[in-house]
Amino acid sequence: MSPKYIGITALGSYVPKKTLTNNELSHLVDTSDEWIHSHTGIKERHLASENERCSDLAVEAANNLFSNHARNKAEIDGIVVSTATPDYVGFPSTACIIQDKLGLTDIPAFDISAGCTGFIYALEAARGMILSGTMHKVLVFGSEKLSQVVNWEDRNTCVLFGDGAGCVLLEETNDNRIIDCTLHSEGNGAQALVIQNDSHTITMEGRSVYAFAVRAIGDTIVDLLKRNNLSLEDIDWIVPHQANERIIAACAKRYGFNQNTFYMNIERYANTSAASIPIALKEMDEANLLKKGQKIILVGFGAGLTYGGTLIQW
Ligand code: ACO
Repeated sequence: MSPKYIGITALGSYVPKKTLTNNELSHLVDTSDEWIHSHTGIKERHLASENERCSDLAVEAANNLFSNHARNKAEIDGIVVSTATPDYVGFPSTACIIQDKLGLTDIPAFDISAGCTGFIYALEAARGMILSGTMHKVLVFGSEKLSQVVNWEDRNTCVLFGDGAGCVLLEETNDNRIIDCTLHSEGNGAQALVIQNDSHTITMEGRSVYAFAVRAIGDTIVDLLKRNNLSLEDIDWIVPHQANERIIAACAKRYGFNQNTFYMNIERYANTSAASIPIALKEMDEANLLKKGQKIILVGFGAGLTYGGTLIQW
């Protein structure tokens, strides 16, 4: 029996209309456009309205997918959602709410919590379930309303985050496919990045997360290359979680990667956690940057601490 190819065959994304520029933010906390842009690469972020929830952002991303790709919604037989900012803490899962809002009935739907690595974990969970035959056509989401957990009085963190959602359709294919995936967790670093129980806001040890991120991205890329007998020259794009442009620059320098291979859009969206990779992929697809046969590495890193990567042949 020939092995199943499983790949991404459609993409959608959504960011709320409202933007908040660095200059506007400088009226809320003691910061400046110059500081934020030079330390992170961010210029502005999109913010959801008060009554727009994580599931609403995700549904908009799914509608975007279905409006751009001729797909039968009724054939979707699984929903996996990565989010750190679910509609409800605990239950019901945001995936079930998305299922209902999309008008889909009686299919498995569940959330995954893996911080900013969530989309990589979700993609792999969905791939495993397609391989096992439990699901066949799965919508995989990264959706975040981080503005609801940002402490808008803390300049160390509030400048970093934004809201948005991305989704992909994962299914059996004839050519494009996920080749490999690597996933890691370092629970001893859990306290470095936390949504606190009492305040429901983010606290972060910025310096240690920075050092972790540089190592996590670099090691993931090197590992995926080695495991698949590839060299850097074989890779057309690296799509990293968009946390900070300086992290990517430092990683490229330390590991000898060409920085131009990394696709970056953090300037316009800031850090949208689990949503950043699918939003970037959708943007690249729209700009016709993704070509058949290209090799692409997705790499995520974040709270947990978690990290991991996916090697794709497009
Ligand atoms: N505006 C102005 N000054 C600021 C701001 C701000 N928004 N934030 C911090 N500062 C000040 C600090 O108070 C400090 O001042 P002090 O020296 O008087 O105490 C000074 O800037 C330097 O602070 P550092 O924390 O040392 O700044 P650093 O150069 O490390 O940059 C940053 C901070 C950007 C957060 C960096 O540590 C970083 O990128 N960390 C990685 C974390 C990250 O990207 N997290 C995203 C979420 S996690 C994820 O997605 C994986």
